[in-house]
Amino acid sequence: MSLADVAASAARDPQAFWLDAAAGLDWTRFPNQAHDAASDSWFPDGELNTCFNAVDRHVEAGRDDATALIYESPITGKSARFSFAELQERVARTAGMIAAQGVEKGDRVIIYMPMVPEAVFAMLACARLGAVHSVVFGGFAAPELAKRIDDCEPKLVLSASCGFEPGRTIAYKPLLDQALELARHKPTAAIILQREELSAALQEGRDLDWQANYAEADPAPCVPVASSDPLYILYTSGTTGTPKGVVRDNGGHATVLHWSMGSIYGIDTGDTYWAASDIGWVVGHSYIVYGPLLKGCATILFEGKPVGTPDAGIFWRLVDQHQVKVLFTAPTAIRAIRRSDPDGSFIDDASLSSLQALFLAGERADPDTLLWIADKLGKPVIDHWWQTELGWPAIATCFGLGETEIRAGSAGRAVPGYRFKVRDDAGDPVDAGVVGNLLIEQPLPPGAFRSLWNNPVKFQAGFVDFPGHYTTGDAGMIDQDGYIHIMGRTDDIINVAGHRLSTGQMEEVVANHPQVVECAVVGATDELKGEMPVGFVVTRPGCARLDEVHSELVASIRGDIGPIASPRSIYFVDGLPKTRSGKILRNLLRDITNGADISIPQTIDDAGVIEPIIEQVERKAPA
Ligand code: COA
Ligand code: AMP
Repeated sequence: MSLADVAASAARDPQAFWLDAAAGLDWTRFPNQAHDAASDSWFPDGELNTCFNAVDRHVEAGRDDATALIYESPITGKSARFSFAELQERVARTAGMIAAQGVEKGDRVIIYMPMVPEAVFAMLACARLGAVHSVVFGGFAAPELAKRIDDCEPKLVLSASCGFEPGRTIAYKPLLDQALELARHKPTAAIILQREELSAALQEGRDLDWQANYAEADPAPCVPVASSDPLYILYTSGTTGTPKGVVRDNGGHATVLHWSMGSIYGIDTGDTYWAASDIGWVVGHSYIVYGPLLKGCATILFEGKPVGTPDAGIFWRLVDQHQVKVLFTAPTAIRAIRRSDPDGSFIDDASLSSLQALFLAGERADPDTLLWIADKLGKPVIDHWWQTELGWPAIATCFGLGETEIRAGSAGRAVPGYRFKVRDDAGDPVDAGVVGNLLIEQPLPPGAFRSLWNNPVKFQAGFVDFPGHYTTGDAGMIDQDGYIHIMGRTDDIINVAGHRLSTGQMEEVVANHPQVVECAVVGATDELKGEMPVGFVVTRPGCARLDEVHSELVASIRGDIGPIASPRSIYFVDGLPKTRSGKILRNLLRDITNGADISIPQTIDDAGVIEPIIEQVERKAPA
């Protein structure tokens, strides 16, 4: 069926359409109904187990020897392959290890781990027990981990002795110890995977050795759960320092991920699919772990970087070696590769005959990068758009439905099941081609979030400004032919190397410094990372030690949020541009930082502060 036929069928009879998609899975009780309007839940009477569908089902279908998980770690020089039967054994015993600590259906488990196979086993093991995992990205600092521990109150934490960044070992255990010290909630135990490169000291009475406990564990069976029961909580940046715990259900999630593998990515059972992301982000949840495994594909878990581990050819050699059919990464990775290998000679050296398409998401794909990689690969390069809240692509070129036409500057058209609208700030519709608030009409399709953990007020806030619609937080426009163009965020969220961060949260950290009177952090355009944080700080009168304050502010951001939020620059200024009502003109600061033409608003309080800021930015502008 063509995209038009599929979209028409999803729009005409969503109940039948999604029940049909649900039939692609094994349910312990197949749902009679797709969507229940009263509870806004999908497959309300359905019951299934997501791990069974991602793992055991393929073994039962006789695909026990087929490859499920490929681990490639150029950073440690290790690699491994797990068939579906091996994956089933590892996951069932990991589930037994977790259950032995009293974890049951509905209990939360925090996973703070590097990109190792045990992290994937742990996610699936939680799903097997009906427990709710919350994976925390390894690049977050201890206070961020502590916030998540306090919010979701896990019974158990799973971690590892260390992870690796190019040129250095990241000791995870001291970060975990610090987080457990900071958190009010105390989990009953922490199970630590000791990696051979670094052994962590275990705290008597709380910490347990992963290997020893795994060796003694009995395999645990799959526990059926209601379709709407939570599978995981994934925290993402909101507009303040408090992260939002996006809750994902089981039935809707499994249904759409399974459907998307074929319809969006053009992937069949048995193919190899590679999302070069991290399990700490939604892309890792959906397309390293659940999507490919639900479809019965081989998925690649990559512990490395697109460049420097060891070089800019690693992606292409792995595509060649594992006959990858679809590769998914962030535009930043391609920019980094291009910077290291501008002629694409590593691409020329690899045989990429298996590769059918490259998908990009997570941040704006600048046309220059997109055209460069499309030219070098000679394959379709497909930008697509989604968010942690949605869990799967909402705007895309549905390659699996035969779509290949790519319109420059657009992330594609609405994926069947999503109904996009653009409204102005007053809530009125705008004409085709006019930029406004990008909204999605309710009900959201299966897989999209239905709640935020512990936070109904913040959840509702996403639906109040434009009744009947979810506010994506992005500005965009829909052209005459239905292609959607994303213009950027309407709030203070920025995307740094595809990582979603809040400048409001950074301002909270900076404002905590005793010498800081006021501050603003904005997202500056960055050639490599898309955006990077830049701070403007007013210090107390007479504060002479600006170099020290600078170092302390950088250290606080790295120590409180994480190294991924490191600012590109911090400027000390005499005053911040504000409106007469006291609102800081962050857009003006952003334009100054980006060297854009600026227009000074009529409502400004003291225009005299602007010139010195421009001079400073020009003087210190990074080369
Ligand atoms: N654990 C601990 N620290 C981490 C980390 C992790 N999992 N991930 C990143 N960091 C640290 C880095 O070591 C670096 O620290 P430093 O400032 O001390 O050098 C800092 O956080 C910033 O990291 P990163 O944004 O990765 O920048 P980089 O300069 O190290 O690497 C790229 C640049 C382009 C190679 C890298 O950003 C990249 O691979 N980008 C693609 C990202 C991606 O795939 N995102 C997918 C989201 S869908
Ligand atoms: P995350 O929740 O981390 O996936 O971040 C979601 C946000 O990233 C979106 O709201 C967008 O602002 C941005 N984003 C994701 N994909 C794209 C894309 N293809 N083009 C432009 N922005 C994107």
